Amino acid sequence: MDIGSPMAYCFVRRPSPMEVDPEVNMTRTLSVQEFAARKAACLPISMVTCYDHWSARLLAATDVDCLLVGDSVAMVMHGHDSTIHADLDMMALHTEAVSRGAGGKFIVTDMPFLAHRAGTPAAMAAVGRLVQAGAMAVKIEGAAGNLELIRHIVESGVPVMGHLGLTPQSHLVLGGHRVQGRDEQVAASILASAGQLASAGCFALVLECVPDTLAERVTQSVGIPTIGIGAGSGTDGQVLVLHDLLAVNETFHPRFVRQYGEGHRWVREAVDAFHRDVVSRRFPGPAETFS
Ligand code: KIV
Repeated sequence: MDIGSPMAYCFVRRPSPMEVDPEVNMTRTLSVQEFAARKAACLPISMVTCYDHWSARLLAATDVDCLLVGDSVAMVMHGHDSTIHADLDMMALHTEAVSRGAGGKFIVTDMPFLAHRAGTPAAMAAVGRLVQAGAMAVKIEGAAGNLELIRHIVESGVPVMGHLGLTPQSHLVLGGHRVQGRDEQVAASILASAGQLASAGCFALVLECVPDTLAERVTQSVGIPTIGIGAGSGTDGQVLVLHDLLAVNETFHPRFVRQYGEGHRWVREAVDAFHRDVVSRRFPGPAETFS
């Protein structure tokens, strides 16, 4: 890496918010322009998934930059085995619930499986529905065949976030949920696609499950921020599924997830304590009773 490049600067030294341009917003609401400013200032962007009203309210009180109503909602909240079961109704319903609690956080919603492949009028109707539900941007998986539509969506006033690497809606073609871009041919195609998505007007780009060296190459080659998940530390931001970082599911711990809590234990202990109080008639007590 050229040590004089902006990216090298990001690796060498992360400036504190106090040192950077005062125009760069470090408050709780991020705009599309500020995504670019964050990259220029080497200030990482954090994003977590959010699917419902009560977690939106909790996240509204955190410093996290951006909420993603991901199509992973189909797996995490509805128990499906892949994201292809998320449809427009599901995405709009969860986006509405999130937007009623998000307190101004920037909300990105996934375009669900095939919603952007059914022709421009149908795709634009889907975009309109998600934006009216509260999305401030839509995320679209893949570049091939999507570039013209992405240009049209952006020209129509709706920001688009790209998504490359492991694109779970294509898991049938990809042969499963596996790391992408280990061989040079696929890596080159991801690199080229990233440039195409940036040129088409995407304001940011998710890189999922790619080798860290490829993620760094992509990050250095595009002017828009990259947000990684399973893509190493060289991206401009990171995203995790909220339930994964809270370890709500005890048995699910992929390598790229850092668990910041013990959600499964908190829930079990709280509910078991409630149950014990009920069966021992310690709940409700006088303080919880109308006399
Ligand atoms: O749906 C989702 O949760 C996502 C993240 C993995 C980026 O797209």
